[in-house]
Amino acid sequence: MKQSLIILTLLLSGAAWADGNTSLAPATSNLKWKNECSACHMAYPPALLPERSWRKMMAGLESHFGQDASLDALTAKEITAFLVNNSAERAGNKRAKKVLGALGPDEAPLRISETAWFVREHEEVSPQVWKRPKIGSPANCNACHQGAEQGNYSEHQIRIPR
Ligand code: HEC
Ligand code: HEC
Repeated sequence: MKQSLIILTLLLSGAAWADGNTSLAPATSNLKWKNECSACHMAYPPALLPERSWRKMMAGLESHFGQDASLDALTAKEITAFLVNNSAERAGNKRAKKVLGALGPDEAPLRISETAWFVREHEEVSPQVWKRPKIGSPANCNACHQGAEQGNYSEHQIRIPR
């Protein structure tokens, strides 16, 4: 009895650890980032791009993937600091390390969906699937990752729309 309790405890804490370890929710939260950067799409996990990418993106918001996403200077500064503090370099988790490892030292991609890490992770998704009306583009993370808004990209939470 005592032994099975110990095993149960180990199993439960193991599961909790695995969950926390794979979450891509930023360690801190920021209301301005949440509001401004989810106005047109979901707020992407800061840990999936390096600091240099976020700085570059935040310096060019007036032409952001064909749209004007510009902000007042103070808001832009606050959001930049938040993104940098939670970037791949600072997040330090397993996935962030993989993202960084797959990038050249000067590479500063603006798309998570074009990083070598992303492409490898999504190898099994065929080109026709990305174009399905309910998906549209690889940038539409939450079309398939049911927990994306909460930073949960666990494989148990993937449902690819038909
Ligand atoms: C006015 C609308 C708008 C706002 C506001 C906006 N974005 Fe975007 N963003 C877009 C569009 C459009 C795309 C391209 C989406 C696609 O390819 O499907 C995009 C793409 C992105 C991508 C690349 C996604 C990929 O392919 O991996 C990132 C990262 C991103 N935005 C970050 C931000 C951040 C950070 C903010 C807040 C400072 C922000 N966006 C605010 C419109 C916006
Ligand atoms: C067409 C549906 C689809 C879209 C859209 C999509 N993904 Fe995925 N994602 C998948 C599939 C399928 C896998 C592979 C799961 C596996 O191999 O177990 C995956 C794997 C992942 C993983 C690794 C999960 C793990 O632990 O094995 C991460 C992280 C991830 N995606 C993030 C993203 C992000 C961020 C976006 C948006 C920029 C995105 N995905 C867009 C379907 C999608």
